[in-house]
Formats: sequence, C-alpha cells, structure tokens
Amino acid sequence: MEFVRLDGERLTLVFALEKGGAADCVYLGARLPAGEDLAMLAAAGARGRHESQPDVPPVPGLLPERKGGWSGTPAVVLRRASARVATHFRVSGWEADAGALAIRFADRLAGVEVAVRWRIGAGDVLRCAATITNTAAAPLEVERCAALALPVPARFTEATTYAGRWAAEMQEHRRAILPDGLRRVSAIGKPGFAGGNWLLLHAGEEVLGAHLSWSGDHWLALEPDRQCAADGRAVLLMAAALESGEVVLAPDDSVTTPEAVLALAPNRSALAQAFHAHLRAEVLPGRKDWGPRKVHLNSWEALGFDLSEDGLMALADQAAALGAERFVLDDGWFGGRRDDTTSLGDWTVSPDVFPNGLAPLIAHVKSLGMDFGLWVEPEMVSPDSDLYRAHPDWCLHTEGREERPTMRGQLALDMAREEVRNHLFAALDALLRENAIAYLKWDHNRDLFPCAPGQAEGFHALLDRLRAAHPQVEIESCASGGGRIDFAVLSRVHRVWPSDNNDAVERLRIMPAWSQFLPLEVLGSHVGPSPNPITGRRLGMDFRAKVAIFGHMGVEADPARMSDRERETLKAHIALYTAWRGVLHAGALHRLAHPDQNVTGLMVSHEDRALALVAQTAFSPVFDAAPIRLAGLAPEARYRVTLPEPWPPKAKHYLANPDQWRAGLVLSGTALMTHGLALPLTHPETAWLIALERLAA
Ligand code: GLA
Repeated sequence: MEFVRLDGERLTLVFALEKGGAADCVYLGARLPAGEDLAMLAAAGARGRHESQPDVPPVPGLLPERKGGWSGTPAVVLRRASARVATHFRVSGWEADAGALAIRFADRLAGVEVAVRWRIGAGDVLRCAATITNTAAAPLEVERCAALALPVPARFTEATTYAGRWAAEMQEHRRAILPDGLRRVSAIGKPGFAGGNWLLLHAGEEVLGAHLSWSGDHWLALEPDRQCAADGRAVLLMAAALESGEVVLAPDDSVTTPEAVLALAPNRSALAQAFHAHLRAEVLPGRKDWGPRKVHLNSWEALGFDLSEDGLMALADQAAALGAERFVLDDGWFGGRRDDTTSLGDWTVSPDVFPNGLAPLIAHVKSLGMDFGLWVEPEMVSPDSDLYRAHPDWCLHTEGREERPTMRGQLALDMAREEVRNHLFAALDALLRENAIAYLKWDHNRDLFPCAPGQAEGFHALLDRLRAAHPQVEIESCASGGGRIDFAVLSRVHRVWPSDNNDAVERLRIMPAWSQFLPLEVLGSHVGPSPNPITGRRLGMDFRAKVAIFGHMGVEADPARMSDRERETLKAHIALYTAWRGVLHAGALHRLAHPDQNVTGLMVSHEDRALALVAQTAFSPVFDAAPIRLAGLAPEARYRVTLPEPWPPKAKHYLANPDQWRAGLVLSGTALMTHGLALPLTHPETAWLIALERLAA
C-alpha cells in the first residue's frame, strides 16, 4: 500500500493506492502538516471485519463495483452484446503531479481500463473525471461511468439538496443524510430547474459542495452505510445520465466523462468564495479581460411581443436616460414571430417590424452610447416556421410515430446532426456579421424529448464554433431562466439568466442560492415592473433597485410607465451599481447571518472596500431588529461606514442619527463583525446598502 497526498492551500486529500488492489481516499479535510505519517493516518481510520460481511471486507473506494460482495451502486456499468460485464478492476498504476493525481485501473479479463483523474486548482477546488477505454476486440456499451466516486468522510451527516420549478429555482432543502441516501436524476436533456446537479454536504459549519459540470442530463447518488461498506462512509457518485446505446466504444476507443467539481470549506461563505475563485480563474472564458459588466435594459418585460422600430427607439432613449449601457432586444424580432406560437427557426429580421432591418435601431442605440444585444433560441423550431416546412425531420422525434408533442408550442432540433448545426451556425454567423451585435441572450425554452443523445455535445460544438468566429460577442445562457446553468456552459458564456422571476422578494432567495456557486458578475439581476408579471407582487422602486445591484444589473421594465420619482430612484441606483461593480464583481462574497430569517444579508469585500445589502422581506417580529453583523473584515483595521443614498422611504423617521450616518461612522473590523450595525429593519420590503472603506493605518 502506498499513500499519496494531494495538497491545496488549505486542503489535503490522502489516497491509499495498492498496485493490483484497490484505491481509496482515506482523508479529505483541512491541510495536514507536512510531516503527517500517512500510513498511521490510514490505520487510525481503518476498521475490522464485522459480522455479516464477506470474509475480505470490500472497499468501495474510488471505483466502487460489485466485486467482492460490495452491494452499493457501481460507478461503472458496462455491457457487451447486451450482457452486463461483471468487472473486477485493479489499480495498474498512478501518476502524481503537483496538484494532480491520475489513477489507472484495469480489468484484463473484461478488456476495460479506467483512468480516474483528480486535479486541484484555484480556490482549492477539485475537478474529477474518468476515462474509460475498451481494450477488447468487441464493442463495449457504457451505461454509466461516474465522473466522481467518493467515499465521503463520516463526519458529514447532513445534506442540502436543491429543488425548484420555473420562476422558483434553487429552493434549498437541508436534511439529515438518512440510511436510504438520496438520488437525483434529470431526464429533460439539460440540468433543468430541479437543481439535482448541485449538492452541499454538512459537517456542522464545515461544508462540501459538489456539482456536475455538464449541460445535459445528470445522475447523482449518495449512498450511506450500505451493509457491506467497510466503514460506514457514504459514497457519493456523480455522472452524466446516458441513454441506452448513447456511448458504444469500438475496440481501443475511449470516452471521458464530464467533470465533477468539489470544494471543501469551513463555512458556506468560504465555499462560495472557493467556487467563485475557480470560475474566475479556470472556467469563465477570458474572465481576466472582461470589462465592467454593462447595465442592460431588456425589452421583454417592457414591451413583450409589442415591438415596433419607433417603440424600441423610444425605449432605448429611456434606457440611456437611466444610465443603461446595453440595449437588449428580446423575443419577437424575427420571421413571423408576433407571439410565442410561431417562427422559431426563421432567424431573419422581420420586415413587418423592421422594414429597414435592424441597422436603424442599432445605430440609434449606439448614438445613445449603448451597445446592442439580441435574443435567440437557436436549438428550437416552431411547427409553423419555414425551417420546419423545409426540414420536418430535423427535430427530435421518434421515427415512425406521428405524434410530435410540443412545449410552449415548439419542437427541439436534433443537435447531434451536423447539417442542423451547420445551418444554425450559418444563420447566427450571418446575423452577427451583418449587425453590430455585442451580446446574445441564448434561450432554450423546451425540455428535450423524445430523448436526445448527443444533444449537449452538439450544443457545445455550435457554441464553440460561434465563439471562435465572433470572440467579441458576449453570450448569456438563459433557458427560461435557470434551466441550463452548469460549469460546462459557463466555460463558454459570459453570464446566465438565473430566473425569469424578477420579483425582488423572490430574488432575495434565488440570488443567494445561485451565488453559493456562481459569482455575482455572471448572475443577471434585473429591476422588473411593479406589479410583477409573474407573482403579481407590488414592490417599491427603492427595494427593487437595491436588490438588483447585487448581480449583473439590468432593467426589464418600461421606464415610460414609471413615475418621475421611480425613474430618479432607479437612475440613482444604477449609478451606485456602476460605482460599486468593481467590488461586487471581483471580491469575496459573504453570506451575513441574522436571527430574523426574513432578513437577507450579502456582502462583498474587495481590497479596501466592501458593500453589503441587507433586506427585510416580512414585518419584523420585534420593534428593534438585531444589529446586522458584517463579515470578512480585517479585525484590527478601521473602516468608515456609510449608508449609500438614496435611503429607503421612511428611513429618516427610523434612523436614529442620520447626520452621523451621512458623515460616516468609523469602527474597527472587530466591532463591525462582533457587534454589528443596528439598522431599521422593521417594514417588509425594506433594503439597505452599507458601504465600507478601510482607512489607512
Ligand atoms: C424565456 C426567457 C425570457 C424571455 C422569453 C421570451 O422565457 O427566459 O427572459 O426571453 O423566453 O420568449
């Protein structure tokens, strides 16, 4: 037995590897001292055989399989000529590099090799993937190959899973890890709203976050304490869900899984910071060259399908007057698309709406100092479209069946077909060549059925080709809001649309949930109309605008329908966003705790500045809400604290010493983090911003 340690800055993993035997991870936790005796560490965690176990207790390890009497779910499921292959993998070798470990397994009788790769990078985030190779002479079907198989240290006793639906994504459910474990699977061809590709495991405050970086279907299992597991650890498995026959390897062929991504942190704020560091350094395309995230005005909740050149130009005037920097024309600009029943696939500018093409509108937008963005939904086709009439066989369908069930009146194109991808590339490439388009909102509003093998790969290939041809164009992954958010798509796009729900009360739940994994600069965050078109809730502009600042801010409402006062308030908050985005989009995110669960607090600190958002959604149960305690400050440093104006309505009435707040209070990091600030958090739908500036020592 040999021991290999993989060290991050604050993290160590210890692997126990036995040539001709098994591979296990015997330690995952805080960084161990340099001289730690790894054999003794393994001995300290080893268990003897208990009754009712095979005589040689099986170790699920890093490649759990049924050999030797282990009864859990195997990481690799293979078939030859329809029959299940009974595998018995043995470690054949490994290569350890600084921050990386590749372990090779072979089963000579079955003619299969598996290589499992672990890599540790920015933020101490771990990336794991497996490659499976067919070394025999007959084809090999891969039914499942886990990207990650990890025996989870037994101190993790609780899990947070995510569930949701359209407009109510990422609802957190924390529960004990029960003996029956948990299992998540998607079957709609994309990660979807149900959130099964995200997971937290808790050991008290300590938290392990996991994600499958894949834009197609996922499969996740957490299996605690199976009868034959040697030592009571739960096994966490994450894989892309494959269709039957989707992956068949010819002799000598191999396939590599998507990556599973793992991070371990002492608390949830530190976990968010780890994932953000990983995305910023290793995932987001060209992140270090991104300029400031421009304020959007999007036409959807302002005009819907009621589009005209004049109306859009007037909306652009209003947008510019507020301080918007990008004007995004949403659905309805193409083909015969005057409502959502028609024309997806006909990606040519509608002469009914734009008799002279998009050029006059784009010129107008540019003359106002903004750039121009456009909505597309490339992978879809309406039955009532020229594309469908020309190529009825291009959509996903079951050969020989008449039925072609629609969703939102649309069908999905078969992205595995090269001619489909070529056609879409040509259409989008022409749009981008002929028009000065800085940004594409890439939507995807239908589930993929019947099943769609190769769909996610086809989508990635089209995106990659388009990005290579137009590297300056920013892209958003939308998918009805929240329907296709994963690190694989994030390696190709510049932001995501977290939810169609712009209601600020709902966003106060949705944004902290997404920002557990994603940094604020990729999370579109728009001020919507009041009443909100989805929830019907009426909210004041001050509250809506403050909440929207904590993301990539935009406006998705018609300013012409706002009062002068609302427009002024919105404009002032857009100015605050532009002044603070350098902090919000580069800094460390902290989740602020408060005893009232209706108070949400987020804070971002960067270099010598920090900004916090503290928002109250329901009527306070007490007259004087507990002070909000800040986080992430240098204990000894002194900070000037102000409450950036405009203040919420009635603030002056409740704020004890407004003049002092205007001048700024000077307090130590320790005082701010321990004692906190007593803010008037009494009325529902009140939000405050807190600005901090570190003073020179
Ligand atoms: C989806 C998107 C919305 C909007 C509409 C347009 O629902 O999530 O933001 O673009 O499509 O049809």
